[in-house]
Amino acid sequence: MTQIGSARRAMSSLVLAAGLALAGCGQGAVDRSTPATEGVTDAMIASGVGDEWLSYGGGYDEQRFSPLGMINDGNVSDLGLAWYADLDTARGQEATPLVHDGTLYVSTAWSMVKAYDARSGELKWSFDPEVPRKTLVRVCCDAVNRGVALYGDKVYVAALDGRLVAIDQETGEQAWSVTVVPDLENYAITGAPRIANGLVLIGSAGAEYRARGFIAAYDWQTGQEVWRFHTVPGNPADGFENDAMERAAETWAGDWWEFGGGGTVWDSIVYDPVTNLVLFGTANAEPWNPNANDRGTGDALYTGSIVAVDADTGEYAWHFQETPEDRWDFDSNAQITLADLEIDGEMRRVAMHAPKNGFFYVLDARTGEFLSGEAYAPVNWASGLDPETGRPNILPEARYEQTGEIFIGTPGLYGAHTWHPMSFSPLTGLMYIPANNTIQPYLADNEFEGSEIGGQLGLDIAPLAMPADTSIRNEMLAAMTGHLLAWDPVAQKEAWRVEYPGPSNGGTLSTAGNLVFQGTAGGEFRAYTADTGEQLWSFPSQTGIIAAPMTYSIDGEQYVAILAGWGGLWDVNFGILATKSGFTPNISRLLVFKLGANGELPEPPPLAERVLDPPAFKGTEEQVTQGAALYARYCGGCHGDAAIAGVLNPDLRHSATLTSEDAIRSIVVDGALEHNGMVSFEVAIDATGAESIRQYLIKRANEDKELE
Ligand code: HEC
Repeated sequence: MTQIGSARRAMSSLVLAAGLALAGCGQGAVDRSTPATEGVTDAMIASGVGDEWLSYGGGYDEQRFSPLGMINDGNVSDLGLAWYADLDTARGQEATPLVHDGTLYVSTAWSMVKAYDARSGELKWSFDPEVPRKTLVRVCCDAVNRGVALYGDKVYVAALDGRLVAIDQETGEQAWSVTVVPDLENYAITGAPRIANGLVLIGSAGAEYRARGFIAAYDWQTGQEVWRFHTVPGNPADGFENDAMERAAETWAGDWWEFGGGGTVWDSIVYDPVTNLVLFGTANAEPWNPNANDRGTGDALYTGSIVAVDADTGEYAWHFQETPEDRWDFDSNAQITLADLEIDGEMRRVAMHAPKNGFFYVLDARTGEFLSGEAYAPVNWASGLDPETGRPNILPEARYEQTGEIFIGTPGLYGAHTWHPMSFSPLTGLMYIPANNTIQPYLADNEFEGSEIGGQLGLDIAPLAMPADTSIRNEMLAAMTGHLLAWDPVAQKEAWRVEYPGPSNGGTLSTAGNLVFQGTAGGEFRAYTADTGEQLWSFPSQTGIIAAPMTYSIDGEQYVAILAGWGGLWDVNFGILATKSGFTPNISRLLVFKLGANGELPEPPPLAERVLDPPAFKGTEEQVTQGAALYARYCGGCHGDAAIAGVLNPDLRHSATLTSEDAIRSIVVDGALEHNGMVSFEVAIDATGAESIRQYLIKRANEDKELE
């Protein structure tokens, strides 16, 4: 594989040098620039983390392990703040910074990019792709961005609105920009681009909308698209792009393509130079409820899978489906980590994965062969995995669209682990996973025929909204927890864990200093011993941390950097449950530490007092019923379950617009706040609907006031 790959690359550069046109030579034969030989090269990324951190997951293997041990379990208590930088956005911050040649590059919410002097923190430049704020309505989970890529003399960022943008590393000027997504209604991009031999790889989000998943590769110099692989088949009437799509179509029924099918590639992409394959994770099937597009109980390939394609051509190589017939939003997008592991006395090149569905998988990275899998969290949708094939044995009660009953799923849609990066230490042999215990009630809306705007789930959400009944609330709150899980991937068992009050804690970094670093949702940045999980150090970050830390060294001094800033799905979507994790204000800030430093942060602003003072309820029960249904379907994803918001978006129980029918209509129907991300819902909601929502909100505010 490797030989063929490099021979082909050598050939294509020869052809380029001779100035011959390659157009029209069939698949993969696109005129391509030669891979970078100066600046950041493939060899540098392949060699993994050293003094620099060159790629989102550290190196191509995405282990997020650093061999730097200057900061270690003996001296980490001397770690202090070296410098910090306040950001000009106040939404969720999910990016891992990169460091090259003394410069730290980081992306922020709204896909902005900053370059700092990595030693002093001085801002070198700032780039804003000017994402229209109304894009927010096609993003399930906040205006986040997980990071940039470096290659040659460029920085690459994928903008929320679906563009891939190349920026000059020195000046911060845009070099080129291409639109990656097929339309501007259903797709968004939150993931970090990855590099493979002069190609820039990116997919998109959108599997809650009408999106057809894909991954695409772009020439690093010109931005020209070199290949694109779809993850689900399109309309057969249009012909299949390749055999892989034709085979996948046999696992779908009905007119699945009308809703896109999902399977988006919104986070994990790894390039394995050893096999010349690109491995990536795919999202849930769309709509969630299989009855909504009559797709039946087929596997719905290649959703909920890890797929491998040839890095040069994008041709299908293998797939392993973790969640067949997905209806629970079990994305397989979590980070894929490559390693050489000894399994049953044999060294194997493996891909390790801890997706939302609750099972930890070890696959052969060359073939996708299932080597082992074990539940790393409580699981009640399947009774286990087939020991030979790794296929889950799905329990009948989990097929909620067939039973017509509520299924309380474990894990829930938030997952046992999602995009929050994990790290693997070859020294301890342990994987450090920011894990969650979550549950989720699922109830099918079998009459669902599609929404005019927003998500396309096919669930009956209003009856599932968090009830005002405090005993049920308390039960749900008790069931939702988080922990740092140290997992032995060879023995497939837990080594140790550290408990957190709620889900959505930060990603992890492990180092040769016998340390694991992790930020918490409650607003601390911590260091634990990697072998035993003993907490050795903590820094009050004043805000919840969801991103992962990284480390670098300059002039013999080791630094640890982390992006702080609370937000993401857990905050915007989960209502009162989100308060469980910490409920800190969002203070978006880059924090950089080194030994012996003693920098201090300014006093944090207090969390706004939230005393409920709603108008008296004078509406009708019909209005409340209609308003609750509209709210659950169109509003709860941003303003929180049962009208209780997290930190980022306004809590509508407190809104001044509750006092006025005109005020709420001007926002919800006329789009008065569209420039800030609150779009018009006119296609789905008229003035009567807006008034019903207002009455529902007044009712909810009064109910909760009683509880205060
Ligand atoms: C995609 C996310 C999103 C969705 C979905 C959404 N909103 Fe908003 N909404 C926002 C944001 C962001 C703001 C803050 C805008 C600003 O700061 O000007 C907002 C503000 C508002 C406000 C003004 C609050 C105040 O007092 O300042 C109202 C009222 C509102 N939304 C109602 C709704 C209703 C009703 C729905 C459902 C029909 C809805 N929103 C759906 C994101 C959303």
